[in-house]
Amino acid sequence: MIKPVIAGNWKMNKKVTESIELVKNLKTLVEDINQVDIIVCPPFTSLYPVSEIIKGTNIQLGGQNCYLKESGAYTGEIAPQMLLDVGCQWTIIGHSERRQYFSETDSLLNQKLKYVVETGLKIMFCVGETLDEREGNQTESVLRRQIIEGLRDLTAEQMKNIVIAYEPVWAIGTGKNATKEQAQEAHAFIRSLIEREFGKSTAENVPIQYGGSVKPENAQELISQPDVNGFLVGGASLKADSFAQIIKACI
Ligand code: PGA
Repeated sequence: MIKPVIAGNWKMNKKVTESIELVKNLKTLVEDINQVDIIVCPPFTSLYPVSEIIKGTNIQLGGQNCYLKESGAYTGEIAPQMLLDVGCQWTIIGHSERRQYFSETDSLLNQKLKYVVETGLKIMFCVGETLDEREGNQTESVLRRQIIEGLRDLTAEQMKNIVIAYEPVWAIGTGKNATKEQAQEAHAFIRSLIEREFGKSTAENVPIQYGGSVKPENAQELISQPDVNGFLVGGASLKADSFAQIIKACI
């Protein structure tokens, strides 16, 4: 049985005071829940104040992205070591908004994964097809390319620190989630790819999160699917009560 991993991706939302308020409310609502891993991924500017509030609690901290160097002349970038320094255990890598708006390619993401996994951060690695790709019957070929190229040269040992997030681009922020059947089908396919690349034991143990318009109303039916092992939540993680309801639906 894989322990569900539920992460809130706040994206470019919440100033420091708003972040503090949100995480304080969340902390009270999810106190004592240890059947699932709970992660919040605030914007970089809020990481440190949020980390001070969740110290010693069941809430873990993640970055939304990072670069593949420890330090140096890389204006605007953040090192994984800097995320660790402010208390992060996690980072997201390869979110579709990074691929779409910031031109992050499979090959760059592969370099990032190989670097970041060695720093001690755990990674939520995102994959998912666009609407055009789904309608053109390319979902499997896109997922195959993203998984094989993204995870190229990683070892089964390193895979223990990687979670896959299946996020169909057409479901992100649209209010239109994948059905439980669509999610299950994609997750099972991703798990079969992981088995082919890394073996049965890795495939059986890798958590695969679903992301894309997850809300309290659909969380329970999605998590009931055998290959859905958690969520990466955008919009609904910006309110403590809706994120807490999603977490509770996974217990
Ligand atoms: P959403 O975003 O829940 O707002 O659809 C999910 C994500 O992009 O991680």
